[in-house]
Amino acid sequence: MTVTTNEEDTQWTDASIRWPDDEVVSANQKLDPAREGESDDDDEEENGTFDIFADQDPHEIFSFRFDVTEVTNSSTTTTTNNKILLNIHGYKTGSDEVWQSTGLTLWKASKYLCHYMCANADELRQGTRILELGAGLGLNGILAHRLAPDSIVVVTDGDSDAMTLLRKNIAVNRLVGSDKNGENSTIYPKQLIWGLDQSKKFLNESSSSSSSSKFSVIIASDVIYASVVIDPLWETIRTLLTDDGVFWMAFAKRKVPVTIDFVLQKAREYGFCYELVEKSNERDDEEEEGNNDDNIDENNSKIDNDGEAGPVFIYVFRWDV
Ligand SMILES: C[S@@+](CC[C@H](N)C(=O)[O-])C[C@H]1O[C@@H](n2cnc3c(N)ncnc32)[C@H](O)[C@@H]1O
Repeated sequence: MTVTTNEEDTQWTDASIRWPDDEVVSANQKLDPAREGESDDDDEEENGTFDIFADQDPHEIFSFRFDVTEVTNSSTTTTTNNKILLNIHGYKTGSDEVWQSTGLTLWKASKYLCHYMCANADELRQGTRILELGAGLGLNGILAHRLAPDSIVVVTDGDSDAMTLLRKNIAVNRLVGSDKNGENSTIYPKQLIWGLDQSKKFLNESSSSSSSSKFSVIIASDVIYASVVIDPLWETIRTLLTDDGVFWMAFAKRKVPVTIDFVLQKAREYGFCYELVEKSNERDDEEEEGNNDDNIDENNSKIDNDGEAGPVFIYVFRWDV
């Protein structure tokens, strides 16, 4: 997979919100190109513990098929069955690259959000402008584009490495008819690091004199794991959501120092009300929780690469009027 970085992106990885400064250094050292050829495997080799079965290729292509039934009512009712196939390029969840940037792989919550989006595709299609925050590889934003091809979909992340893969995934999965130069396309990748100033700038940049550039549907999956970004997250949503807009968020419960109660309390402070519309099924939860508990560090917002999160909850937020 050959990917190029966009020089306009600000260099930023989400390691900066998950690790204390000194630990960012050690995470960087782990991925420092100067250490190429001097990987953990080499250390193991020196110790005589080289694992010949170790998986050398960190890349992964995540493939999905969504079967969506669309019912249109005009003078007659028409039912169309659509098959949406997506190939999302990224890294294995356990790879070193994900240590630095969690957006380089795909997380369980994004799949739950996909199911919710398919089940509520009619509501999604009513959104003339759709925004994904913290998109990582972009699965949810790309699915939004495929479910609502007439809507403008802007898929964002703050992480510059994730943006590189996100651009690639949009290019390979967008609807035919969107030409190679992006002309006639209705899906756009754009870097957005949350915060009041950044989101105001983002809004101005995407402004057109003819229409509002706010978004009627905002989606996000698995973006809650560091308390320092909860205020910037709500600032961003407050700046970018239309008056009648909705924010769909898939929340994966993790052992991190930020709870959903804190996030919901902040939502109220920022003027939103909310509804819990879905919770992942109990059997999945038990299995996942069993695997997960030891994998998350309670003191730092580390998302351990070997484990997935506990249950997933889907919340719908609206302005509290
Ligand atoms: C755990 S990953 C989830 C990726 C994807 N949504 C998924 O569910 O597979 C969290 C994503 O949120 C992004 N993120 C975290 N804090 C952010 C911030 N302050 N501004 C922008 N993006 C942020 C990270 O870069 C990362 O891509």
